[in-house]
Amino acid sequence: MGKQKSKAEKTAKLIRKMKKLWEEAQSELCEVRNSAIHGRGVYASRPIKKGEKIIEYVGELIDKEESDRRAHIQAERAEKHGDAAVYIFTVDDQYDLDGNLPWNTARLINHSCEPNCEAWIDGSRIFIHALRAIKEGEELSFDYGFDVDTWEEHPCRCGKKSCVGHIVSRTQWAELEIKKRAKQAEVEATHQSRNRRPRLK
Ligand SMILES: C[S@@+](CC[C@H](N)C(=O)[O-])C[C@H]1O[C@@H](n2cnc3c(N)ncnc32)[C@H](O)[C@@H]1O
Ligand SMILES: [Zn+2]
Repeated sequence: MGKQKSKAEKTAKLIRKMKKLWEEAQSELCEVRNSAIHGRGVYASRPIKKGEKIIEYVGELIDKEESDRRAHIQAERAEKHGDAAVYIFTVDDQYDLDGNLPWNTARLINHSCEPNCEAWIDGSRIFIHALRAIKEGEELSFDYGFDVDTWEEHPCRCGKKSCVGHIVSRTQWAELEIKKRAKQAEVEATHQSRNRRPRLK
């Protein structure tokens, strides 16, 4: 009986812990809905002021070795199934944060070329803040900061006027433009050489 009670207590403790973790990752300022950009997204559930802390991006703090191992698995999965969601954030030189947890609502925030939010690191925690005033019902977004080297793997569908067509860090947009032009020239050259007709002399 005593043994049974301790098992029940352990379960109750675990449930309390899970509930606490889940509550920490929720925010009254936003909610999950289907997104026009991709899959599900996160939307403002009331007007949000510029600079306001919206939600914590919770996850598991992992070292770089473990982070590389998980990134490798994700890349393999992406190659097989085309499911390329990335949830790992760089925290500092030693640690990363893997936000691939079902209760981490912030993991569903999509990328935009004109983002209204920004991720801020506070110690080893990450918070999503408003970059400007956000209206109720607006989809939240931030710059994923992806490297320009992977531009072809990540088409962007943010739909903004200034969309550069690919999920690439704003800091590398100039480089992206050069790469896009080079690719276009390559495509045109291939097209021209294929369409050359034999001529009689
Ligand atoms: C962390 S998830 C974001 C949540 C995602 N919408 C979902 O339902 O799982 C990141 C993935 O969402 C997609 N995504 C996010 N922003 C996007 C955008 N601007 N354009 C196209 N796809 C986007 C990409 O597939 C990206 O790898
Ligand atoms: Zn875009």
